[in-house]
Amino acid sequence: MHPHSVELLNKAVADELAAVHQYMFFHFHCDNQGLELLSTLYRRIAIEEMMHVERLAERILFLKGKVLMAPAVEVEQITDVKDMLAMSMKMEQDSARDYNLWANECGANADSVSKKLFEGLVEDEERHFNTFEQEWDNLNRYGDRYLALQSIERSKKGGMPATQ
Ligand SMILES: [Fe+2]
Ligand SMILES: [Fe+2]
Repeated sequence: MHPHSVELLNKAVADELAAVHQYMFFHFHCDNQGLELLSTLYRRIAIEEMMHVERLAERILFLKGKVLMAPAVEVEQITDVKDMLAMSMKMEQDSARDYNLWANECGANADSVSKKLFEGLVEDEERHFNTFEQEWDNLNRYGDRYLALQSIERSKKGGMPATQ
């Protein structure tokens, strides 16, 4: 059933897995640098991307396809916060663009459920982009003070893990 949709859904799984890995990598490194807010944000968004994998995989299985669980790209070893945010914004923009196109392709092939799935993902990726862009703006506006404030938040918690 709908082999082209299965192909597109698997491409999306690959992109989402790459995002999960990249954002968890950023999460660890922000945590290591004492950046409370960004560390928590990357963890939360990584989990949302993991749930995207789940929704895509369920649709592939419903269409009697095989879920190819391989990330599209390797993790980039980026540890500078500004570079992390720049990469994250680009990833979200690329995903939103691809999912819009793939929604249209699924619609053109009379697969309206996959179309709706991709449209739902576009909404989430645009929201992720907006979140990263806000942090990008804060970092540009306040510079080192923005990073220092996050470390102070960590100190207030007396070294509790970022997730608590
Ligand atoms: Fe996603
Ligand atoms: Fe996203």
